[in-house]
Amino acid sequence: MTKPRILIARKIFPEVVQRLSGHFDVQANDADVPWTPQELAAQLQDKDGALTTGSQRIDGELLAACPRLKVVANMAVGYNNFDVAAMTAAGVQGTNTPDVLTETTADFGFALLMATARRMAEAEHYLRAGLWQNWSYDMFAGSEVHGSTLGILGMGRIGQGIARRGAHGFGMQVIYHNRSRLSDELEAECQAQYVSKDELLARADHLVLVLPYSPESHHAMGEKELAQMKPTATLVNIARGGIVDDAALARALKDRRIAAAGLDVFEGEPAVHPALLQVPNVVLTPHIASATVATRLAMANLAADNLIAFFEAGRALTPVNA
Ligand code: DGY
Repeated sequence: MTKPRILIARKIFPEVVQRLSGHFDVQANDADVPWTPQELAAQLQDKDGALTTGSQRIDGELLAACPRLKVVANMAVGYNNFDVAAMTAAGVQGTNTPDVLTETTADFGFALLMATARRMAEAEHYLRAGLWQNWSYDMFAGSEVHGSTLGILGMGRIGQGIARRGAHGFGMQVIYHNRSRLSDELEAECQAQYVSKDELLARADHLVLVLPYSPESHHAMGEKELAQMKPTATLVNIARGGIVDDAALARALKDRRIAAAGLDVFEGEPAVHPALLQVPNVVLTPHIASATVATRLAMANLAADNLIAFFEAGRALTPVNA
């Protein structure tokens, strides 16, 4: 029997490629060439399945060019690179990698919150530039983390992880807004109080965005929402670019209408809005919230497990469409 043909669209751990090669006829993008949508379609047109990352768009146009394709396993929990309706219409199963990255991503969200509140990037650049002459009472004085109010927009698994860290580790008062309210048990576990979005914006000392990207969440933090925040507040985005209007955020940071921001994701990444690169009160990282060796390996293995389960057991482990 011929083995299903699989495309691994970006470079991943060699041991996972090797594992997949035991089950499938694998073509891997070892050179890690970033393909255009047309090149991706050309690579995929004779494949039965694919392992992708968030940077390959799977939409109706691509699917029309790839009639053999049956399953696409994203190595990410977010799957806004999938046109799920088009995949479902074409009978293509999509999968993601939930759970395995929750705690690691929450760790990073909290690290970015602390780096932002305590101005760590600004201070490090200052020191490296040889500008440090003396201790000074207000040098890089930031804002308090412990005991402050932590706002969370989007209260899925990662949001809950950040809430637990804030409440249990730092004595923060946690408020959140989400499409739906958590159960009483989960609210108690996270010590989190449900509030309206307006109240969240007005009260948070540190606001962390952890909601999925969709047309509804596009620019959920725009000019108007930024104006609702306290001038002393900080904003952290570990969710997706596009949820924040980066141009409006750069203006708010420049005019000190909010104190600081920490951003791991950007509209149109890997490009970063040039105005964000000009303001000092922002910590910028290149989409690394899930980047520990163990977690990235777990994500790659879960994506591989999804392909194996789909072809060998007839059912993916973590499907995103029926
Ligand atoms: C995810 O899993 O959605 C991350 O953003 C990808 O690293």
